[in-house]
Amino acid sequence: MKKYIDKLNSVVNLEELEKLRIEIFGKKGVMAASFAKLKNLAGDEKKSFAAEINTLKKELNDILNQKREFLKEKEIEEKLKAEGVDVTLFDAANESGALHPVLATMDKIINYFLNMNYEIQEGPLVEDDFHNFEALNLPKYHPARDMQDTFYFNDSMLLRTHTSPVQIRTMLSKKAPIRMISPGAVFRRDLDLTHTPQFHQVEGLVIEEGDKVSFANLKFILEDFLTYMFGDVKVRFRPSFFPFTEPSAEVDISCIFCEGDGCRVCSHTGWLEVLGCGMVDPNVYKAVGYENVSGFAFGLGVERFAMLLHKIPDLRSLYEGDLRLLEQFK
Ligand code: PHE
Repeated sequence: MKKYIDKLNSVVNLEELEKLRIEIFGKKGVMAASFAKLKNLAGDEKKSFAAEINTLKKELNDILNQKREFLKEKEIEEKLKAEGVDVTLFDAANESGALHPVLATMDKIINYFLNMNYEIQEGPLVEDDFHNFEALNLPKYHPARDMQDTFYFNDSMLLRTHTSPVQIRTMLSKKAPIRMISPGAVFRRDLDLTHTPQFHQVEGLVIEEGDKVSFANLKFILEDFLTYMFGDVKVRFRPSFFPFTEPSAEVDISCIFCEGDGCRVCSHTGWLEVLGCGMVDPNVYKAVGYENVSGFAFGLGVERFAMLLHKIPDLRSLYEGDLRLLEQFK
């Protein structure tokens, strides 16, 4: 019987301990067997044996209880250790990434206009002919539709070729005043050094009741914006044409590569074209049922801005997912 003291002391887990408990204290255990032996004894022998096994019983019971407490605590500790996270461990595989340069450029542009109290508006990428063309003063068979190589689904549905349809959606959903930008993806059938079939634009639209908004306002905001984007550059407005603005202009900045001396990037003109703009054409107001308002709109290509800001020679490289390029933007 005394060997069970050693046995109890050398148990290493609760499962073993339970087995041993049954072996000692169970109905068919050694303790029961010892008490059974008492029946065959008598007198002093019986007394002293009874005293002996009762002391032993108490001793074994105490050891068992102590051991159980100890093993329980040990098991909890081990569990905590196994499930815990060592926050001091260095994980070399978990390096941080960076914003894609197009997204970072988009954020920078959006930030400027949010600071100027413009709201962000969004529209669907799959557009209908009305919002993408018709309401923007581009009726069917209008030659200016050729400027935008469109992906069509059928006669009336298409992938939006610019963010200008969001102007229409916004004007149809609320009254002036409007002060919005619409950043997002656009699609055209085009692929070369400076074009990808999907790219991103940011549209801007400001409308006020009456004749409050003038070309001077447009000029101010774009000059300020372009200085914010590119630093100390010259800005010039060139007369141009868009069906949805009248008058229209394209905006150039002095070449940031040669500072206006003339180089390959600016085709030796000293100027880089960066966006299109103008006063909203009366026909657009007619299409959305606006009267007695004035406003301007502008649109720019985010990839073009990213290319200029980071001196990226081939636009397509932005969409190849090459880590050697992307890692430079951390
Ligand atoms: N939507 C025109 C384009 O994609 C850009 C633009 C927007 C021009 C608003 C003028 C006003 O080329």
